[in-house]
Amino acid sequence: MTFELSDAQRDLQARARDLARSTIAPRAAETDRSESYPWANVEALTEAGFFGMTVPQTYGGQGLGFLETVLVVEEMASVCGVTGRIAVEANMGAISAIMTYGTEAQKKLAADVVLGGDKPAICITEPEAGSAASEMTTRADKRGDTYVINGMKHWITGGGVSRLHLIFARVFDEAGQEQGIGGFIAMGDETPGLIVGKREPTMGLRGIPETELILEDLEVPEAMALVPPGGFRRGFAELMNAYNSQRVGAGTVALGIAEGAYRMALDYSQEREQFGRPICEFQGLQWMLADMSIQLAAARSLIYKAAAGAGQHGDSAFPDALEAAQAKVFASEAAIKVTNEALQLFGARGYSRDFPLERMARDARMFTIGGGTAQILRTVIASRLLERKLPQTRDGHLKLAQQKTVRAAE
Ligand code: FAD
Ligand code: COA
Repeated sequence: MTFELSDAQRDLQARARDLARSTIAPRAAETDRSESYPWANVEALTEAGFFGMTVPQTYGGQGLGFLETVLVVEEMASVCGVTGRIAVEANMGAISAIMTYGTEAQKKLAADVVLGGDKPAICITEPEAGSAASEMTTRADKRGDTYVINGMKHWITGGGVSRLHLIFARVFDEAGQEQGIGGFIAMGDETPGLIVGKREPTMGLRGIPETELILEDLEVPEAMALVPPGGFRRGFAELMNAYNSQRVGAGTVALGIAEGAYRMALDYSQEREQFGRPICEFQGLQWMLADMSIQLAAARSLIYKAAAGAGQHGDSAFPDALEAAQAKVFASEAAIKVTNEALQLFGARGYSRDFPLERMARDARMFTIGGGTAQILRTVIASRLLERKLPQTRDGHLKLAQQKTVRAAE
């Protein structure tokens, strides 16, 4: 398999690189320091056509794929992790779930909003349902042609700045019978009952709010319920399948941040002199740089493969769960190592807030946690390799216990 980019993809990458280096990079430190959402970057990305790139042309987008998105995200993240994350959510995750599973009205709404500069929020995690996402208790009760949603989400990226929300909830019919899990589309600025709660004081990626979302009798018209092809019964699995795109996106942000840190380290090692020589002449540092480059090359291969493979696994339009998990685990762990090594190579300057390395190391630290922890993703990988539910997942222990009972009876 080769990842030769086409001329069009190279052009796109070059345009993204120019914008990232000329416009986004100079704002990155201030975005971190002020902890404010970079609306000016959103405007720049929207003008450049980097919002809603994956939206089909019939809905006003460019109909580009996840690989093209990855190329843009990587460039943005190499200078500003926050802007990389915005580019992910403006093209992957919620928007791609809606553009794939949605009704005409839902697709039109989502396309218009995103192409207009809104980064949707995907709302899955709850205080008692983090890794065990399928144990969510937020409920959507059917009342006539409306769903009434009650519950609490937290760590929602873009809480308070995103307009479009895709809220995962447990669905109940009029008789109170559980139907499964669905996604509900709600506009944050127009919908009473969607309340933004506490903002988390995060270690890194400070320019984008992570907040609680309190859902208090939030009324969503039935027409805004996102029902994947398998219905609510298969809702969780199919929504998580769409979420694989965002996992590739998260891995790409990690890769981009690491790439940016590595480039700085490579340059600095040739400028900084000690013992009468540039520090790159010391073999200890040469091997650090070599190891960084290996991590980056391997992470990039996994990410590009997962992104380019979307739509090539059965009838799914999304990256494969196994490939997405492999790519995110590797890239997120590589980013922690590479940013730390780059910081080390800068000596005291690496530790100073006057230089970008400490921000990059803080930003990179997130990606083994958000979007499925490295432990959970290893479980996803193992479960697919072994083709079975594993004991550490919700039904795994039951299935194993049942298997034992069956074996004992035999
Ligand atoms: P827990 O599930 O409580 O896990 C705690 C520890 O136990 C972890 O180390 C975990 O790996 C480990 N663990 C748990 N279960 C197992 C197991 N079976 N086997 C082995 N180890 C296990 N969520 C959203 O819905 N929308 C968002 O936009 C969003 N954005 C986020 C942005 C950031 C910056 C962060 C940090 C999180 C975000 N999240 C979001 C939430 C994120 O997806 C969760 O934090 C993540 O899924 C883990 O859940 P948890 O924090 O509750 O950890
Ligand atoms: N892609 C495709 N299908 C997926 C999937 C994914 N990423 N994750 C789960 N599924 C499917 C499973 O294959 C299963 O389908 P099946 O019924 O045909 O077997 C179904 O969804 C339920 O998954 P299962 O593993 O049985 O559920 P679980 O509750 O035991 O464990 C986790 C679920 C751990 C895999 C999942 O909840 C998870 O990924 N947690 C991390 C949460 C997260 O990433 N949050 C991000 C918020 S931004």
